[in-house]
Amino acid sequence: MLRPFIAGNWKMNLTLKESRELAGSVRDGTEGITGVDVGVCPPSVFLEDVYSVLEGSSVILGAQNMHWEDKGAFTGEVSGDMIKEVGCTHVILGHSERRHVFGETDSMINSKLRTAFTKGIMPIFCLGERLEERESGSTFEVIERQLRAGLAGLRPEDVSRLTIAYEPVWAIGTGKNATSTQAQEVHGRIRALLKESYGEDVSASVRILYGGSVKPDNAVELLAQPDINGLLVGGASLKSDSFLEIISAAFEQVRSAV
Ligand code: 13P
Repeated sequence: MLRPFIAGNWKMNLTLKESRELAGSVRDGTEGITGVDVGVCPPSVFLEDVYSVLEGSSVILGAQNMHWEDKGAFTGEVSGDMIKEVGCTHVILGHSERRHVFGETDSMINSKLRTAFTKGIMPIFCLGERLEERESGSTFEVIERQLRAGLAGLRPEDVSRLTIAYEPVWAIGTGKNATSTQAQEVHGRIRALLKESYGEDVSASVRILYGGSVKPDNAVELLAQPDINGLLVGGASLKSDSFLEIISAAFEQVRSAV
């Protein structure tokens, strides 16, 4: 069993004070938790402060985005070096809001993934189909295109350290999560595509998280699926109670597997 990874994507939410408090609650609430990786991804302007709260704990700090270039005239962007300097070890790349609200293409996301690995930052690479794509039966096609284009040119040893997050666009922020069967079907497909391109060892080492309306009451069932290795949580990660409940669900699963 791969070590589960529960990550909170705070998106563009919270004040600085609330960010510090939430980070403190996650840090304290996960003290006795072993066998589960826990991470938070605050807005970029709060990263340094959140890092100072998390320092010394095992909670992972991730950014929500980064540019592929090191520096230059890219108003409004942050570089990999910048997010590293304020304590990030991880970064979310290719989130559907970046793709569909800000027009990020597969090739931009591929550039970002390559840069992240060059800099030793661990990417959480997001992909997922839109409602019309699911309804027209092209989910697998979309996933395959996003996966192949996103990973183009990466070395197999980088792919083996990757975290992928399957986030169906229609399930994000809608309260309508994919059923565990729907999610497992796509996760299984992603695993099979990885196996086909990179072999058994690499495919078996990639953690595939599910994201999209994850709540404490659906976390257990989603985590029970063989190819769901963790969760990328939006709304429910903004309240320490619900986020810690989801983390506990993963912890219980790890304990019961021993
Ligand atoms: P919600 O959990 O709010 O649906 O958001 C999911 C998500 O986009 C996490 O990256």
